[in-house]
Amino acid sequence: MEKIRVELGERSYEILIDSGNLSLVGERLLRFSIGKKVAIVSNPTVAGYYADRVLNSLKKEGFDASLILIPDGEIYKDYFWGYHILTRLLEMGFDRKSCLIALGGGVIGDITGFVASIYMRGIPYVQIPTTLLAQVDSSVGGKTAVNHSLGKNMIGTFWQPALVWIDVESLDSLSEREFFSGLAEVIKYGVIWDSEFFEFLTNNREKILRRDKDILIAIIKRSCEIKSEVVSKDERDNFFRTILNYGHSIGHAIETLTNYSLYLHGEAISIGMVYEAKLANMLGFLDTEEFEKIRKTLKEYGLPVEMPSFIDKSAFIKAILLDKKNIHGKIRMVIPESIGKMKINFEVGEEELLRIING
Ligand SMILES: NC(=O)c1ccc[n+]([C@@H]2O[C@H](COP(=O)([O-])OP(=O)(O)OC[C@H]3O[C@@H](n4cnc5c(N)ncnc54)[C@H](O)[C@@H]3O)[C@@H](O)[C@H]2O)c1
Ligand SMILES: [Zn+2]
Repeated sequence: MEKIRVELGERSYEILIDSGNLSLVGERLLRFSIGKKVAIVSNPTVAGYYADRVLNSLKKEGFDASLILIPDGEIYKDYFWGYHILTRLLEMGFDRKSCLIALGGGVIGDITGFVASIYMRGIPYVQIPTTLLAQVDSSVGGKTAVNHSLGKNMIGTFWQPALVWIDVESLDSLSEREFFSGLAEVIKYGVIWDSEFFEFLTNNREKILRRDKDILIAIIKRSCEIKSEVVSKDERDNFFRTILNYGHSIGHAIETLTNYSLYLHGEAISIGMVYEAKLANMLGFLDTEEFEKIRKTLKEYGLPVEMPSFIDKSAFIKAILLDKKNIHGKIRMVIPESIGKMKINFEVGEEELLRIING
């Protein structure tokens, strides 16, 4: 079992990564000072595969465990389904020592964390992420959220989990497209932080795509280490954490302009990373060779690397500049200076954005 400690003072927690460890969750939870009542929050897709394993392991250790299901999909990550979970907790008599377990992808993780942070002013929760994206990104860092009809992730809190429990075996049932999407974030960690890790990803593509368990454990571990190192430096996202946004300024604009329906998150971020690297290259910060390496690696992992041709240029520029980080018509971006080293808070305006989409 691999272990990473996220250092956040009294809110510190561990990320444990292994293969085939879902049936050991109950035993691990005995180490925490929590009550007997625990509830798994999941959706029918994930619960169909994995809920029994987790439930049985909890019951075996004497926990009074139940399962709360919400429908599968980003549109259900909202206040109303959050309210539904809160209602179930009240009905079942959950108290301040009771614990929630998020079993699913980022949608389940975000809404469960949000509910845990507000139920009786905050109860403990455990993340059991089951998508690659959730294992390397959303389950680590303590950002919780639900969507509002006026904006994605607009309602949320910072609430750290008591434990993140990763079973790479749960990725066996994940679709290829979702798997590739998660890999985009893994490649991002290489670009923003660790050129050796980037090389490793380039050189071990076949094993990774075969979902070899040992290699999955290795890449998830390194990704979580990098994310937790960044988060420990800047828990509340004031400055340094923006480094994690590489690829996301342009990626989010693409998601918005395609109504979050054409691309999965990692796919949009892949295009974003290529174009933000291209910007760095055009401005003379990033070598052409390194830019090509980033593009080639993403492409070889089956990710899109071209801006969709139907995207309206002025709508695209507007969408980026509308970003909440816009200052006097300029946006602050993180762009690569080389693989493994980023320039933070680089100001970009309309002119530069036009140059990158015009080629
Ligand atoms: N809190 C954060 O820091 C943070 C960071 C990044 C993303 N997010 C959020 O994460 C969400 C996206 O997460 P996601 O990409 O995991 O999407 P998701 O949770 O919607 O999961 C994708 C699909 O895969 C299915 N699935 C999950 N695990 C499976 C498995 N093991 N086998 C088969 N199917 C499985 C799900 O049911 C769903 O249909 C977004 O809401 C985003 O805002 C949060
Ligand atoms: Zn992302």
